[in-house]
Amino acid sequence: MSRLLTAFSVLAALVPFAFGQSAEWGQCGGIGWTGATTCVSGTTCTVLNDYYSQCLPGTATTAPSTPTSTSVVTPSSTAGLHTLAKAAGKLYFGTATDNPELTDTAYAAKLNDSKEFGQITPGNSMKWDATEPTRGTFTFSGGDQIANLAKANGQLLRGHNCVWYNQLPSWVSDGTFTAADLTTVIQNHCGTLVGHYKGQIYSWDVINEPFNDDGTWRQDIFYNTLNTTYVPIALKAARAADPNAKLYINDYNIENTGAKATAMLNLVKELIADGVPIDGVGFQCHFIVGEVSTSLQTVMEQFTALGLEVAITELDIRMTLPETEALLAQQQKDYQSVVQACMNVEGCVGITIWDWTDKYSWVPSTFSGQGAACPWDENFAIKPAYNGIVAALTA
Ligand SMILES: *[C@@H]1O[C@H](CO)[C@@H](O)[C@H](O)[C@H]1NC(C)=O
Ligand SMILES: *[C@@H]1O[C@H](CO)[C@@H](O)[C@H](O)[C@H]1NC(C)=O
Repeated sequence: MSRLLTAFSVLAALVPFAFGQSAEWGQCGGIGWTGATTCVSGTTCTVLNDYYSQCLPGTATTAPSTPTSTSVVTPSSTAGLHTLAKAAGKLYFGTATDNPELTDTAYAAKLNDSKEFGQITPGNSMKWDATEPTRGTFTFSGGDQIANLAKANGQLLRGHNCVWYNQLPSWVSDGTFTAADLTTVIQNHCGTLVGHYKGQIYSWDVINEPFNDDGTWRQDIFYNTLNTTYVPIALKAARAADPNAKLYINDYNIENTGAKATAMLNLVKELIADGVPIDGVGFQCHFIVGEVSTSLQTVMEQFTALGLEVAITELDIRMTLPETEALLAQQQKDYQSVVQACMNVEGCVGITIWDWTDKYSWVPSTFSGQGAACPWDENFAIKPAYNGIVAALTA
């Protein structure tokens, strides 16, 4: 998931001021909207339909994204989540981030806190449309900004991603390729991208979201042209480009036992049998309050039993707004149980939340009427969810 468009970062370079808040009459949400989700003062973000929310003058009669709770939550530990995760034997606790957010100094100061976040993942700037917008022409400025930040802060970096059906430049998604031609395209993209960051990346999501929810293969340019062979083609190119990076396949809705998890398991078994390089499976974990997976540990263990590592790569737990004390309390339990599943599996190396603050969550603009999915609120105050994570990390 996390289909925030990379056009976002390109635009951000041109009009950096536009990303804090939307202007009066500006768009502030809707399916596919990737810009600001808050409005300038004196206007209110108003849902007109699923695809369009607009900053209308005046104050809201209903303010779906405004937290109703202002109660202060006291942290049950001030050590920092990454410090606690390390003490518990994990490699990292980390967060996604994105280039436009880095101009927010209060946000950046917290992101820089390596006691809290020992690992970061760029939300968009290493995706195909950002890194190879035209064939053979690579642009790494956005990805480099985040890689350099990780380096300066001593944080591990997850690369995201090489091959995905979404956020492709049109020369790829709408291209007409022979199998041989597309093989070259994938080898060049993954090889150049992974090679550019050689030595800087802990793990790469080489393949992202290959399956439909029913466990069938997603019909995209890669599958339709190369059948399943695009997977080993990409993995081998990534291995050759950076032999020390852990190579992952990353997906959602594999957190529960079922057809999709089984399809992933079968794919991984086949890759191992064929001698294709594969080191890990990423469980995205974009969950809903009250509906988190109860079989996450079981599924993870099926993969670690094959000798792979696993990680929680994109955790957030959204709710239907407005926030209530009851929803926040359930969210605390849910964060605790998801993190606990990783704690219970030795081969689960770490947990990444899909941004730490509700201010920059992808949820409100993607799932109409939903939000408040992160452990910190829009004002960077911790929510009960934070203490749920602490409880699991210190259990
Ligand atoms: C975050 O860390 C980077 C890299 O050290 C530094 O350049 C930047 O100024 C820091 N930002 C804040 C707000 O502390
Ligand atoms: C894709 O490959 C599989 C396994 O080799 C094969 O069973 C299947 O028929 C192929 N599908 C297409 C559309 O060629």
